[in-house]
Amino acid sequence: MTATLNYSTAPGHQVLAAAGKRILRPGGKAATEQLFTWANFQPEDTVLELAASFGESAIEIAKRFNVRVVGVEKNPDSVVKARDNIKNAGLSDQITIIKGDIFNLDQITEKFDYVLAEAILTMQSETGKAKILSAIKNHLKPGGKFLSHEMLVRSNESGVRKTLSQTIRVNANPLTISEWSTACQDAGLTLQQQQTGTMGLLNLNQILRDEGFWGTVTIVWNVLTNSHLRPRVLQMRRNFQQQRNHIGYIVFLANVL
Ligand SMILES: C[S@@+](CC[C@H](N)C(=O)[O-])C[C@H]1O[C@@H](n2cnc3c(N)ncnc32)[C@H](O)[C@@H]1O
Repeated sequence: MTATLNYSTAPGHQVLAAAGKRILRPGGKAATEQLFTWANFQPEDTVLELAASFGESAIEIAKRFNVRVVGVEKNPDSVVKARDNIKNAGLSDQITIIKGDIFNLDQITEKFDYVLAEAILTMQSETGKAKILSAIKNHLKPGGKFLSHEMLVRSNESGVRKTLSQTIRVNANPLTISEWSTACQDAGLTLQQQQTGTMGLLNLNQILRDEGFWGTVTIVWNVLTNSHLRPRVLQMRRNFQQQRNHIGYIVFLANVL
């Protein structure tokens, strides 16, 4: 992925991945941990993870809670990396990564106890969000739970969406708390738990917590020494800082009633 990446036009998450970032969610591991607490996974529960990226969350929950995970990821390089990570973790019998598009979930006929989706719905249009949320609902067993980790907009909605989309080079369309709730409701999912916090993706303390000391050193080194990577990462960081009062993360658990 890194060899052919055009750093000026690539989506922000690919640029950050090229810099060495593994955790690509606005609230980082701590926010994901809150989702796991709410979820209360039991051994043998089944989880469908949308946009599984490098398999980080899938590996974490399979290892800790002995659940079975099916991950869907579109980027072929990420699929290869996820499968390698899963193999190295000795979890190939518990986690399957399907190379596919979350807009085509019909190819998966199984229903799950949980659907986990982090940092993927924000990037979709209103129609796209509605389509994916409806597919999520259809892939949950009765009483199943949807675990979501996304970007939140608190104020200056149109300004935030415009600036973020320009900086991240993808359609960045974060919602307010009530808009996330309504979007879920429209798809037949009801918010049961929610938590919001600071957007810390490029905050040094959060990077240290998410990537560890040596991971952080690697990222800083890559950013400082790669003159193509540096302007994009610094521009995203500057933008997140400028918007810090308007944006954040949201994690929520929604039920199929
Ligand atoms: C911001 S990253 C988040 C990755 C991961 N969920 C995490 O929290 O670290 C977005 C991921 O979504 C994947 N992706 C984007 N659009 C997709 C789609 N339509 N179907 C499947 N995966 C997609 C990207 O390749 C990337 O791995």
